[in-house]
Amino acid sequence: MTNSHTQHRGLWSGRLAFILAAAGSAVGLGNIWKFPYITGENGGGAFVLVYLLCIAIIGIPIMMSEVLLGRRGRLSPIKTMALLARAEKAPVAWGWIGIMGVVAGILILSYYSVIAGWALGYVARAAGGEFTGADAQTIQSMFGGFVGDAEKLLGWHTLFMVMTMVVVARGVSKGLEKAVMTLMPGLILLLFILLGYAIMKADFAAGFSFLFSPDFSKLNGSVILSAMGHAFFTLSLGMGAIMIYGSYLPDDVSIPKAVVTIAFLDTAVALIAGLVIFPIVFANGLEPAAGPGLVFQTLPLAFGQMSGGAIIGTIFFVMLVFAAWTSGISIIEPAVAWAQERFGFTRPVAALVLGTGTWLVGVGTVLSFNLWADVTLFGKTFFDVLDYLTANIMLPLGGLLMALFVGWVMQRQSSLDELQMSDGIAYRLWYFLLRFVTPVAVIIVFLNAIGIIG
Ligand code: TRP
Repeated sequence: MTNSHTQHRGLWSGRLAFILAAAGSAVGLGNIWKFPYITGENGGGAFVLVYLLCIAIIGIPIMMSEVLLGRRGRLSPIKTMALLARAEKAPVAWGWIGIMGVVAGILILSYYSVIAGWALGYVARAAGGEFTGADAQTIQSMFGGFVGDAEKLLGWHTLFMVMTMVVVARGVSKGLEKAVMTLMPGLILLLFILLGYAIMKADFAAGFSFLFSPDFSKLNGSVILSAMGHAFFTLSLGMGAIMIYGSYLPDDVSIPKAVVTIAFLDTAVALIAGLVIFPIVFANGLEPAAGPGLVFQTLPLAFGQMSGGAIIGTIFFVMLVFAAWTSGISIIEPAVAWAQERFGFTRPVAALVLGTGTWLVGVGTVLSFNLWADVTLFGKTFFDVLDYLTANIMLPLGGLLMALFVGWVMQRQSSLDELQMSDGIAYRLWYFLLRFVTPVAVIIVFLNAIGIIG
């Protein structure tokens, strides 16, 4: 559906640009900060196994659908869904998927920015040599002092929001494409250096077995829901981010190969991060279930002990910031594209309005680590509630609806055309997963988690 309108919105320069942008969206705090800490909280191997299964049978099929929907509609997710629904003579209410996505995006970025702010704060700490020679306790209390300081967190949160909105205001492809191209390989290289440290200096065997020896007694409904929710979160699925990136995808790029590449990269980064962090946890008698502070209490130990650690640590946190940055812009992009369409805002105005609103919600997360630490709902802080609501409920629900739309509402021929696949075994496998396996799996996991079945 390329037309003059498409030209106006802009397109990725090609296959590589799309893969980098989507991988930039997928690889972020979810891989390096969230994956290790929720793996720790959920008991390790069995959780990891369910997560990998969810990537393969739910994540990849839905990612292909989300990209194909985006490219077919070439509008914001709200209008894309409404447009495609009309084309299939289905209710335009399918556009509500997009509305939920816009809301989810604001909520996710509000806390994502706070955590990215931690990474910014840790750039300064690493550069100042504060980890050098420090023991586990010193590093832990450093982290405690840091998140206990609401003003400091607010400052870093503000900085990250401004950084994100500046890029969003300038448009998608300029600058960012290039930044991702150099920073991503750098991040992966540094992770390998840290992996070398974990193998030689930490308790690699214990870390490895924690990640990969499943103890199925650790599984229950809510653990499985977290694994599935994280599969959506880490691949940026279910809220329109990948859909809007698909809407900038040139017509001649093949979707399936690009999607498999992105999912592979994303998973590899998460697993390597786990293989770095858990050996350090076990070598230093730390607690795998330390929660959101886990990465910030383990990696600095490694930096403090290795030679050149101040430099490596600084570069590492800079790269973590960049990984978060390329994700952050994708989280808010559906809302920005929609505000432009809906209110005729220019990009900068849309970015400013949405950025300010998101920043404000983020203040709640800042406070949830200090002044409001005891303000809880069902035992969850403000941050925990947002995280649970978005990752475990809104994203899987959005993904479920997209799967139902592509699998059951859209003509089979439409998806066949858009994916540019022959009607062979690969397409049929995808279509089967999407129509039957994915929706049933998501629904069972939901019902199981709220205790209705299982
Ligand atoms: N996938 C990113 C990460 O793992 C976060 C992210 C970017 C995201 N865009 C998203 C999460 C859209 C949910 C929805 O860090």
